[in-house]
Amino acid sequence: MRHTLLSPTSDLIHQYRASPLPIDPQFLTRWSPRAYDGSALSDEHLMILFEAARWAPSAYNVQPWRFLYSLRNDEYWQTFLDLLDPFNAGWAKNSGALVFLLSDTLVPDTNPSKLFHSHSFDAGAAWIQLALQAQQLGYMAHAMGGIFPNEIRKILHVPERYKIEIGIAIGKPGDPKNLPKQLQDRERPSTRLPLTKLIHYGKFNSPKILSGCPRENTL
Ligand SMILES: Cc1cc2nc3c(=O)[nH]c(=O)nc-3n(C[C@H](O)[C@H](O)[C@H](O)COP(=O)(O)O)c2cc1C
Repeated sequence: MRHTLLSPTSDLIHQYRASPLPIDPQFLTRWSPRAYDGSALSDEHLMILFEAARWAPSAYNVQPWRFLYSLRNDEYWQTFLDLLDPFNAGWAKNSGALVFLLSDTLVPDTNPSKLFHSHSFDAGAAWIQLALQAQQLGYMAHAMGGIFPNEIRKILHVPERYKIEIGIAIGKPGDPKNLPKQLQDRERPSTRLPLTKLIHYGKFNSPKILSGCPRENTL
């Protein structure tokens, strides 16, 4: 396998990913590396990422996403790292910022409280806007489900109504050779299921497929 320092336009992407349809290249070049270069993110850049996330759509425009962040080596850095599971902490320690994404499970200003049905779905939209903006600025963002939600709630004082969704590691791409061997082997953009496995005309499992739907993946 060829390892190169990655940039959003890296050849590495094209080695592993191609779309048979003319989608915007940003959807192929966003991926989740684990090799970061150990540099810090500036406040300004991190705020741009949150700003991109802020413009995500949500049901009734409730905007249920909330973010807790720590910049590399600030006073919360080690605390945030300790709230990732050991596998994730092992590589995310070289990232430039760590974020916990929360979602508000309740509709604001309701009494009695009403559950907000799409809180996680909407927070997911905010995550991907952050990730795509990160890539545009030359960073990579990696979502992590491997976190300790109970400890996050306790240590970072997260009120009960907020669900702790994911952690996010953000940073500049680094040299994969600095990862443990087993992670080096996994350090490449992944592929996807073909459209034929994902879409159904009308009823679930309908045999009809649109003529514009590619039958095979190109990779
Ligand atoms: C909700 C969510 C949780 C994830 N949790 C982890 C994780 O705990 N550790 C990890 O290394 N990657 C994690 N990932 C990264 C996925 O494995 C990755 O997004 C997926 O394999 C697709 O690859 P790509 O992001 O490079 O396109 C997570 C991604 C998402 C969206």
